[in-house]
Amino acid sequence: MSETRKLFIKTYGCQMNVYDSERMAEALGGQGYVETDTPDDADMIVLNTCHIREKAAEKVYSELGRFRELKAAKPGLKIGVAGCVAQAEGEEIMRRQPLVDLVVGPQSYHKLPQLEARTRAGEKALDTDFPEEDKFDHLAARPKARRAPAAFLTVQEGCDKFCAFCVVPYTRGAEVSRPAERVMSEARDLVERGVREITLLGQNVNAYHGHDGGLAGLIRDLAGIDGLERIRFTTSHPNDMDDALIAAHGEVEKLMPYLHLPVQSGSDKVLKAMNRKHDAESYLRLIERIRAARPDILISGDFIVGFPGETEEDFRATMDLVSAVEYGQCYSFKYSPRPGTPAAERSHVDEATKDERLQRLQALLRSQQRVVQDRMVGQEVNVLFERAGRAAGQMVGKSDHLHSVFVEAEDVAIGDLRRVRIVESAANSLRAELV
Ligand code: 5AD
Ligand code: SF4
Repeated sequence: MSETRKLFIKTYGCQMNVYDSERMAEALGGQGYVETDTPDDADMIVLNTCHIREKAAEKVYSELGRFRELKAAKPGLKIGVAGCVAQAEGEEIMRRQPLVDLVVGPQSYHKLPQLEARTRAGEKALDTDFPEEDKFDHLAARPKARRAPAAFLTVQEGCDKFCAFCVVPYTRGAEVSRPAERVMSEARDLVERGVREITLLGQNVNAYHGHDGGLAGLIRDLAGIDGLERIRFTTSHPNDMDDALIAAHGEVEKLMPYLHLPVQSGSDKVLKAMNRKHDAESYLRLIERIRAARPDILISGDFIVGFPGETEEDFRATMDLVSAVEYGQCYSFKYSPRPGTPAAERSHVDEATKDERLQRLQALLRSQQRVVQDRMVGQEVNVLFERAGRAAGQMVGKSDHLHSVFVEAEDVAIGDLRRVRIVESAANSLRAELV
């Protein structure tokens, strides 16, 4: 093993990037790197970037500019760009920012050790290929360190849906599923290291086909792992929500009653222009079927306002759909044109209108979220404790419905799964007492 070097990874964007950053750190561990939480003493800095919305590439360039002095003070410092901006911009990054030594796309992380070695030999290293092999298969096995009780596990990547606004099919490529046996062995390994809750990740996770029984089959197998108490998955497309997965929500106790099922808009005209391949009515019927299987399920979603061509009437249809669903949690965004996507070429809704619609939508979503949360008061729920709170003796965890729950208790440890009674609902969290 070579001498110890320090690695600083800054992660932007989605949970999949969080997972990828962990795996990159492990892969570079074999090169003698240990993680540090500041760029100041790092020998290598990696920005794991996101390209999903607004000016992502510009933010990366301005962040990179800030490393100029660090690099001047330490010429051996290597700077890398990973993630979706790396995939989208490729060589352009090195042309625009000569400080950068390494550019690596999300499908090439298993080549990091070789790429890093090339940078140390004084070369620039770039890899944005879409290879056939499973990158996780080639990444170093996870060291057997103790883990936090809740972990992410990527099971599927890429997307074949081509929603007209979205860069994912271009930056993450075609849909690929990891074989179920590999997912199972990674899950067992996580559980051995103290993990009690696993969130299966994929850009289109419910299109997972690495198991004969699809995602539902994988979930049923995972539920058989002793010590694994909770299973979640995200993100799903309505058209891939098949009967088996709906049934699993009713039957598999370890599958948590929370479903992130983005619809993006409530207007059929906009949904068609977005190339979503479903309409508002079919989405509402789907929610009904899911709730019939699991009545207490908390539904969450994503919305885009101000998509090209969206009129006030279209926007009202979105508000109506939101009212009909009663979401427990939602993310909403102003449409931002992504270079290379079909919608970017269309004529855009003006910024002021987008702002105004976003505010109206978010006010409605906030009030729904509050209603759903307030309803929890007086109920008994299970909480998996993940960290200590700021106040002395306070512990914080997540309920089955993914609410943040605060408890004041002496005898609770990180990793405990305990029954609590909710006593108060605050802006974004619940307070509870042990029962
Ligand atoms: N503009 C705004 N929001 C977007 N999303 C994806 N692409 C765009 C875009 N171009 C949102 C969608 C998706 C979430 C991850 O990000 O709502 O579900
Ligand atoms: Fe993007 Fe999701 Fe649509 Fe795929 S399904 S193109 S990831 S928004």
